[in-house]
This record gives sequence, C-alpha cells and structure tokens, in this order.
Amino acid sequence: MADNFLGLDIGSNNIKIVELKRTSNGLLLQAYGSIETPKGASKSESQADLEEIATATRKLMKEIHVTTNKVVVGLPESVVFTRVVELPVMSDQELKTAMRWEAEQFIPIPLKDVKYDYEVVKRPTKESKDSKDKMSVFFVAVPNTTIERYLKIMKVAALEPVAFETELLALVRSLSPEGNASPSTLIINIGAETTDLCIVSKGNIAFTRSISSGGNALSKAIAQELGFEMTQAEEYKKSYGLLENELEGKIQEIIKPIFDVIVGEVERGLLFYQTHHPTDSVKRIILCGGTAKLPGIVMYLAGALDLEVQLGDPWNNVKKGSPDLAKKLEEHAPLYAVAVGLAMRV
Ligand SMILES: Nc1ncnc2c1ncn2[C@@H]1O[C@H](COP(=O)(O)OP(=O)(O)OP(=O)(O)O)[C@@H](O)[C@H]1O
Ligand SMILES: [Mg+2]
Repeated sequence: MADNFLGLDIGSNNIKIVELKRTSNGLLLQAYGSIETPKGASKSESQADLEEIATATRKLMKEIHVTTNKVVVGLPESVVFTRVVELPVMSDQELKTAMRWEAEQFIPIPLKDVKYDYEVVKRPTKESKDSKDKMSVFFVAVPNTTIERYLKIMKVAALEPVAFETELLALVRSLSPEGNASPSTLIINIGAETTDLCIVSKGNIAFTRSISSGGNALSKAIAQELGFEMTQAEEYKKSYGLLENELEGKIQEIIKPIFDVIVGEVERGLLFYQTHHPTDSVKRIILCGGTAKLPGIVMYLAGALDLEVQLGDPWNNVKKGSPDLAKKLEEHAPLYAVAVGLAMRV
C-alpha cells in the first residue's frame, strides 16, 4: 500500500518540509522545500504569530506540490526535556514507577502539565543481570502548552498531525542507518539559534544536549564588527566562513571566538559521555543543520576535536527518481536531516 507522509521541521530561521511516499520498493521522495520562518514567530505564543507560521507552511506546501496533509511534526530540543537515564536492570512495572520518580526530579514544571514518555534503548541480557551492566532509557517530556501551540498551528495550516517527535530522534533515524554495526557517533545539528548534540551508540541514543547558540550568532558578530546589515553579514559568512586564506582570514577571525564557544560545549559533552562510558569512545561526528554548510567547518571541527567529521546525508535511504534530482539534493542534504527523519517515522 502506498502511503505518503510529510515531515515538518519548524526552525527559528527556516520551515522545512519533506514528503516521502512509502512503496513496496522503499521510500520515494515526493516533494521537499523550505521557506523562511516569519521573523520572531518560531517561539512566540501569540495567535498572530502562530497564524503566520501556518500561512508560511501552507505557502511552502503549495509551492512544492505536496500530496497529503498527514504530517509528523518535529519538536525542537529547546521546548522538550530529553534525557538518557541509566538504571539497574528492572521489570517494566518497576520501570514505570522509576520513570515517574525520574520525571518528578528532572522536569521543572508540575507533572500534570506535561506529557512524558520513555523507551528502553538498552536492556542487558539475563546473563549479565548480576553484573554492573545498567539499562538505559530514553526519556522525553513535553509541556502541554507546547503541544497545544503546535496543534493550533496544524489546525490553521489544515494539517493532520499523526505524530510529534523530538528532532534528535528524527536525526538518528535519517543519519545513522547502519544501526548496530556503526561506530559510536556524535550527531551535531547546527541550526540558526541552537546546536543540538546526540551520541548514538550501537544504534541507540546514549546522550543528548542542547546548546543555545548557532549560525545566527556568527552573522551577528560579522554585522557588529564590520558595521554590516544582517543580510550582508550572512553573505560574508556563507562565502568565507572559517576559511583561513579567504579575505586574509578576516571573517574567520571574527567568527572563531563565537564558534569556539560551541566547540567548547561539544567538548564538554564528549567529556561527560566519556567519563560515564569509559569503554565506549566516540569515533566520528556527523554534522547537519543549515550551519553545517559553513565553509571550512568540517576541517575546523576535525582539527579542534581530533575526530573524523562528515556531513550528514539524510537522503541515503530515500529513492530520488532522477540523477539530476539526486545531485541537487546533495547540496541541500544537511538542511533536511530532521524533516527526512520525521517523514521516515511512520
Ligand atoms: N552556506 C551556508 N554557510 C553557512 N551558514 C549557512 C549556510 N546556509 C545556511 N546557513 C545558516 O544556517 C542557519 C539556518 O539553518 P537551519 O534551517 O538548520 O536552522 P533552523 O532549523 O531554522 O534553526 P534552529 O534549529 O536553531 O531553530 C542560519 O543561521 C543560516 O545562516
Ligand atoms: Mg533546526
């Protein structure tokens, strides 16, 4: 049975949509595209801003000729609480109680105001039950007000949400297809306002963290330093980025201190993980998000973190229709990682 679903990623700078068709031959790309998020609207609660987001989403849907209104909606890490919890091996019933306790400790708002869910990502086998091996559980909580806000947008956009999912889960789905066999990987999603981290070990999420800085901070620094308008600063950032030999390294010099703050947070995340999982070392980094296209970013990160760094290709598991389209998609790969993963979910 052929069935189509949209993945919808509402970022602070861009709204991204991907439509995938489920066929007996696998997933087929039906449509994709992005549109600028109305300024300041992505986090706003006001009805007018919600309507603006819905209108922009409708406009994009029309432009790219989507054929369904069934959608999997991405929830930014900044509006959800996610955590990988490690516990002694226990039964499902015990786990339920433990998770409720965990939720009370960890969520800063009353439990009646959130929906939470969890999934066991690693349960040691019976043989290792007596050892120190722990089970790990991926825990997510979303404030009811957040869900209501997204439901309002969906209603105005005449979309039918079939699921909500945190962006990191979508990324893991679209970017680490090798599952169990792949080396432990740090996925970094560098967007406009935020940078999200997620370590995937043996196909499972083992660590998550969200950093409140991203590509916009780099543009702002350029605008401030050189007295540019933001649009011009964006252009300079996109042209020269972290390249040392361009424009006498002037742009690199300006953005490096801001970028290094993000790198420092990534280092801290890696260190935290390493301390808690001394036998599991992260072997590579996969980059995605719009800022993954920053010139020189791959070399810079590889040097700073001493790890192999690759650009993520979420289209890997998707059939593209024509070689021309495949070539075009390559250029946009990092931007659509979340939306592809969302559309793949159903
Ligand atoms: N070629 C490029 N070089 C450098 N940066 C780029 C390039 N193209 C896009 N960007 C940056 O990517 C960011 C937008 O990426 P993306 O769409 O992933 O963010 P978002 O999802 O809207 O934001 P967030 O996830 O933080 O809410 C902007 O800061 C933009 O300047
Ligand atoms: Mg984003």
